[in-house]
Amino acid sequence: MNVELAGWPLFRRGKVRDTYDLGDHLLMIASDRISAFDVVLPTAIPGKGIVLTQLSRFWFDLTDGLVPNHRERDEAIRAEITGRIGADRSDLAGRTMLVRKAERIDIECVVRGYLAGSAWSEYRASGTVAGEALPEGLERASELPAPMFTPSTKVDDGHDVTISRADLAGLVGADLALRLEEASRDLYGVAHDFARQRGIVLADTKFEFGMVDGRLTLIDEVLTPDSSRFWDATTWRPGIEPPSFDKQPVRDWLSGSGWDRRPPAPDLPAEVVAGTVDRYGEAFRRLTGFPVPASDVLSLV
Ligand SMILES: Nc1ncnc2c1ncn2[C@@H]1O[C@H](COP(=O)(O)OP(=O)(O)O)[C@@H](O)[C@H]1O
Ligand SMILES: [Mg+2]
Repeated sequence: MNVELAGWPLFRRGKVRDTYDLGDHLLMIASDRISAFDVVLPTAIPGKGIVLTQLSRFWFDLTDGLVPNHRERDEAIRAEITGRIGADRSDLAGRTMLVRKAERIDIECVVRGYLAGSAWSEYRASGTVAGEALPEGLERASELPAPMFTPSTKVDDGHDVTISRADLAGLVGADLALRLEEASRDLYGVAHDFARQRGIVLADTKFEFGMVDGRLTLIDEVLTPDSSRFWDATTWRPGIEPPSFDKQPVRDWLSGSGWDRRPPAPDLPAEVVAGTVDRYGEAFRRLTGFPVPASDVLSLV
């Protein structure tokens, strides 16, 4: 589907979202694009952009008292932007978010509660995660003795590089480094416990922050399947790499297709698309307690 706003100044076209620059604000529009193995697939997952947007919104509301976030709450400002988009773009309902533009801090604030992905690879090779020694005998997907803050530098068109907390302090200053770590740990702790009670293991996640009106502010998307590793709590156990809650049908099918992981990726068959739509819907339903709202009850902004 097309999420473009023709004539509006583009801030960034990412793998999944198109973001427009409105001066003091950004308008983020989540498409139904999906990526796997770092490649955007030619097949869309209908409704995925709505799930992503509404899930971020849910977490922003839940954690607002803990860490302020960038979502614009002023109804009058939102109404003005809605008017500018125009009623003929009701197809964008539920997938847009109007946010305050921040002075971004170029750090990915990663928190890990479990041993997965690059952290598992590092631990297996050297017994450390982000350079910090861990007890012996942990298995793939084991819960870590305590959640770890493993920041990385944010490189918009390249690969992020994990840095030590000392490096972080060198980059942003000791005071801000501590505040980033504390906010990230607080958010992860709340979200992890919340999700765990609802049958989802939040293995790890990434936050971004910026300054809005001189205040440290949570930005970007939060605690979505695209920024986090979600596992099904009923099948998680140490020793095996748990399937990704949302993308596993896609990854399994791609792995079996013989595709060499270089673009372009093949089209997904209809049953894989349908299965993935279900997985996103199920993640949303478990976490929020509600089915994904129909787009005609969701506002444009
Ligand atoms: N409130 C904000 N102020 C400024 N930049 C932001 C804000 N929220 C998110 N961003 C940035 O907007 C960009 C959105 O790009 P995104 O859709 O995530 O593409 P990708 O992750 O594929 O690069 C990211 O660079 C993110 O850091
Ligand atoms: Mg992004």
